[in-house]
Amino acid sequence: MSEIHFNKEEGSQIKLFTPGPVYIPERILTEMAKPNDTHRSKPYAEMHQLVEEGLKKLLFTSNICLISTSSATGLMEACVRNLVKKDEKALFFSIGAFGDRWYKIGVSNGKVAVKEGVEWGKPITPEFAQEALNKDKYAVVFIQSNETSTGVYNPINEVIPVIKDSGALVCVDATSSMAGIKIEVDKLNIDVCLASVQKAFTVPPGLALCSISEAAIEKTSQVKNRGLYFDFLDLVKRSEKHQTPTTPPIPQIRALAAQLDYILNHEGLEKRFERHEQLGKRTRMWARDINFEMFPEKGYESNTVSTMKNSLEIDIGKMVSTLLGKGYRIVNGYGDLKNKTFRIGHMGEVTVKDLESMLKILTDIVSDLRLNQ
Ligand SMILES: Cc1ncc(COP(=O)(O)O)c(C=O)c1O
Repeated sequence: MSEIHFNKEEGSQIKLFTPGPVYIPERILTEMAKPNDTHRSKPYAEMHQLVEEGLKKLLFTSNICLISTSSATGLMEACVRNLVKKDEKALFFSIGAFGDRWYKIGVSNGKVAVKEGVEWGKPITPEFAQEALNKDKYAVVFIQSNETSTGVYNPINEVIPVIKDSGALVCVDATSSMAGIKIEVDKLNIDVCLASVQKAFTVPPGLALCSISEAAIEKTSQVKNRGLYFDFLDLVKRSEKHQTPTTPPIPQIRALAAQLDYILNHEGLEKRFERHEQLGKRTRMWARDINFEMFPEKGYESNTVSTMKNSLEIDIGKMVSTLLGKGYRIVNGYGDLKNKTFRIGHMGEVTVKDLESMLKILTDIVSDLRLNQ
C-alpha cells in the first residue's frame, strides 16, 4: 500500500475522487517546480496580477480579488473579524459541517453570532432565509454555496437577493464549488466570495482567494481589532502593488496563474461548468442504478461532490478501503454522517471517462460486499 501512497520516485499513485485536495495533473506539478523570483520582485507582481485578473473573469466581477496565504478557513475568519462590529449581529446560515464551522468562528471571535440551520441534506431556501432575516437586524450574513459535508448546493441565485434586500453584507464560502460551478459575483452583489485552491481550481493546498466589494472594504475601515494577519485593508493595500502582506507560497501562485490560463483560455469557462454538470449527473445516475439514495433533497444536489446515503446498508469503510486497494480514493461520510453516507468528489480536472472507470470498479466492489453480507 505504501508504494501507492508514498512512492519516493513518483509520489502518490492514488487517483483521487475526493472533495479536495484533488488529483493534480503533471502540467501543474511541472509548473510548480519552476524557479521563482522573490515576492517583492517585478516578475512576481506580474504573476500575481495575472491571477487577480483571471479571478475577476472567473467570478464575473470587477471587484478587487485578494490572494491569502492560508487555506479557506483563514478567509472565513477574516470575514468575521473584518466585517462585524462589536455591537452588531451576524447571521450564519448552516446546512452542514462548514456552516457550523463559520458560526463557531463567529463565536470564538467574540461576535454576536446567530445560527439558523436546517436539517442536514436540505438547502437554505429563499423562504427560510426571509423568515430568519425577519427575526432581527443583521449586519452581515454568512452562507455556503456548496456544503461539502452533505453534497447540497444552496440556491444562492435566489437566496442572496433576499439577503441583500435586508441591507446586510453577504459573504459566500464557495470553497468546494468555485471554478467548477458558475458564480456571478457582481450580478448577485456578493460582498466577499471565497475559496481555497485545492478543490475545483486543481492546485495543491496552501492558498485561498476572495473577491471583495467596495462596501466590504468601506465596512472594514469602521471595524476595530481586526487582527494583523487577515486585515482586509492591509490585503487590499498590498494587492494594489500585486503583492501579499506576508510571504506567499509562490509555487502555488505560479500554478494558479497557469491553471487560470488553462481554465479561461483552453478549456473555457462554460465548458468547464458543463463538464462539472455532466460529472454530477453521471454520478447521480450511477447511484440511482445501484440503489444508493442521494443524501441531498432532490433538486439541490451538488455538481462537484455527491453524497450518497448508505441505503444498501453495506460496510462503507470496507467499500472505501477495497477501492483504495485498487488505486482510487473516495471518502466516507463527514463527521456524524460517517458510515451513514459516503462521498465521491468529481471536481477539478476529472473527466467523465475517468469517473466511469472508477464507478465501474466501485460497482463490482458493492456487488461483492452485498453478496457477502
Ligand atoms: C465548504 C467548505 N468550506 C470551508 C472549507 C475549509 O477549507 P480549508 O481546508 O481550505 O480551510 C472546506 C474544506 O473542505 C469546505 O469544503
